[in-house]
Amino acid sequence: MHIDKRLETIANLVPQGCVLADIGTDHAYLPVWLLEKQRIARAIAGDIAAGPCQAARTTVAQFGQHEHVEVRQGSGLKVLALGEADCIAIAGMGASTIISILEDDMEVAQSAKLLVLQPMAGAASLRAWLCSHGWQLAAEELVDDAPHFYEIIAAKRGPAPAYSVAECAVG
Ligand SMILES: C[S@@+](CC[C@H](N)C(=O)[O-])C[C@H]1O[C@@H](n2cnc3c(N)ncnc32)[C@H](O)[C@@H]1O
Repeated sequence: MHIDKRLETIANLVPQGCVLADIGTDHAYLPVWLLEKQRIARAIAGDIAAGPCQAARTTVAQFGQHEHVEVRQGSGLKVLALGEADCIAIAGMGASTIISILEDDMEVAQSAKLLVLQPMAGAASLRAWLCSHGWQLAAEELVDDAPHFYEIIAAKRGPAPAYSVAECAVG
């Protein structure tokens, strides 16, 4: 299975051995690729729409991963029980949609050890929202896949460090 640079960079931020929830999974390429590489234990692949869920089931069947991936149709984190996923990936949507998904089910979002988020636009507003809602930025990647740049943000629970202009000054 081949995935593009953007999805591979997202995949590389997913912790080894975790239970992954891929929200807005579409074809389920992210969880199935990670399972093929034996990098995650199992996955829940969620999508709001029937077509993407069908596409996800097709990929899962094609790679014989039906014992390790459960495809669930529903909005955002509503497909998850509290604490069910160690890592939640939400990729390929606008920052405002990602924020709404997290806000709508804060307890479920907070129960994951790591969020891996890839907004198509509005990354700055997503960073600000995360830092003002009890997450800290654990890692960031910038993917240059011409003609696009993609920003990928990994966030974990904990206070955001307080920076001052003086601390950030060079020289
Ligand atoms: C552009 S695709 C991204 C697919 C994949 N995550 C990726 O990054 O390649 C966006 C997917 O998110 C789904 N989606 C949009 N809003 C959603 C929501 N509130 N909850 C779950 N899925 C959603 C859409 O149905 C679509 O399949």
